Amino acid sequence: MAKLKVYEYPHPVLKQKAEKVAVVDDELRRLFDDMLETMYAENGCGLAAPQVGILKRMVVIDIAREGEKPAPIFMANPEIVWASDEYEVCEEGCLSVPEMRAEVERPARVKIRYLDYDGQECELAAEDFLAVAAQHELDHLDGILYIDHLSRLKRQMLLKKYKKSQKTRA
Ligand code: NI
Repeated sequence: MAKLKVYEYPHPVLKQKAEKVAVVDDELRRLFDDMLETMYAENGCGLAAPQVGILKRMVVIDIAREGEKPAPIFMANPEIVWASDEYEVCEEGCLSVPEMRAEVERPARVKIRYLDYDGQECELAAEDFLAVAAQHELDHLDGILYIDHLSRLKRQMLLKKYKKSQKTRA
């Protein structure tokens, strides 16, 4: 396995739409493994392939807390097939927008159809933080970041703070 470079906002790859995969073969399983290793190394709970510069519709998620048994979920070609009418607000962050967090409103529950690590078609009913993480990661496949869901004013404020923090990091 290998740790990959995570691209950060405003890198243009994050705004692009990812392509469906044909089949989940050994090469893509290696990519899944590398994405998972990268996500764990960065202390993230989700990572989408465009964040490591690969425009394929692939996502890894693990919302297990520290001390809990790892519970990785691998998704290729994920699609939301149902979303609740009820919405919930949750604070989100993103490895591609480091050190920032903001509240985003999304459907509280979703059903997602996808191909798993073995290429089998699966359906996942997600609620609570898993629903948030899944919707956040699926957005990445269409070039959408969580900050795109904020009001213009909130996004501007966040990006101002972000630019400052990027300068201190550099
Ligand atoms: Ni993200």
